[in-house]
Amino acid sequence: MGRKFIVGGNWKMNGNKKGIDEILAFLAEGPLDPDVEVVIGCPSIYLDYVHSKLSPNCKNVAISAQNCYKVAKGAFTGEISPAMIKDIGAKWVILGHSERRNVFNESDELIAEKIGHSLEEGLHVIACIGELLEEREAGKTTDVVFRQMKAIAAKVKDWDKVVIAYEPVWAIGTGKTASPAQAQEVHAQLRSWLTDNVSKAVSDNMRIMYGGSVTAANCKELAKEKDIDGFLVGGASLKKEFVDIVNANK
Ligand SMILES: *[C@@H]1O[C@H](CO)[C@@H](O)[C@H](O)[C@H]1NC(C)=O
Ligand SMILES: *[C@@H]1O[C@H](CO)[C@@H](O)[C@H](O)[C@H]1NC(C)=O
Repeated sequence: MGRKFIVGGNWKMNGNKKGIDEILAFLAEGPLDPDVEVVIGCPSIYLDYVHSKLSPNCKNVAISAQNCYKVAKGAFTGEISPAMIKDIGAKWVILGHSERRNVFNESDELIAEKIGHSLEEGLHVIACIGELLEEREAGKTTDVVFRQMKAIAAKVKDWDKVVIAYEPVWAIGTGKTASPAQAQEVHAQLRSWLTDNVSKAVSDNMRIMYGGSVTAANCKELAKEKDIDGFLVGGASLKKEFVDIVNANK
């Protein structure tokens, strides 16, 4: 398989300059598996700080925003655009995270528009999808993630800069992790969806990250699954254990 393993750290709304210095220090110390693509998702106010402080040792670490708006500029108080993210030297944006969907009520349509615009601007996108606990318990997991994929696919012309993060919402920040088999099952279904609705080539090349209470203790088991191509890590990305998660395949 030619899919390069990718591990993202989503810091969410955490940290300050002192804490960020500590994170950048353990990333610089690593050692990080050079065959893994690492992406760190910083609060927007610190993107430039992180960009200026990232060690030259961290050649395989790129910087990501955690959200952006769907147009380049204008009267949208409080928002940031993909053009701004690129301007400070960051290359990625995380869109559609479950907290954007479920706390800030972003719709499938808005998320898809943000993804479409970010790609047009040349950013790489981590597109997040995932079902709520009640949706899983009602047997609706594939209905939900396929609906989310369909909205995204309507706005994506070129999938080269897209990675998908499957994050079952019931496993985010709860300490509950999907078992490797549960995660693999949905990852395989997503890959079939891509084969059926986009193309075999996109499906074969698409990296599908798993997110939801990934830790140093469970990452190796998850990484063994054939359709798990990386992780999107929340809380553990603020800790030195993130290095072990990056190195899950070693
Ligand atoms: C999102 O929707 C929920 C449920 O309708 C509501 O309670 C909440 O205030 C909304 N949040 C925002 C940020 O609009
Ligand atoms: C996409 O593929 C799945 C099966 O992999 C199918 O259920 C679905 O109807 C297809 N089309 C759309 C637009 O989702």
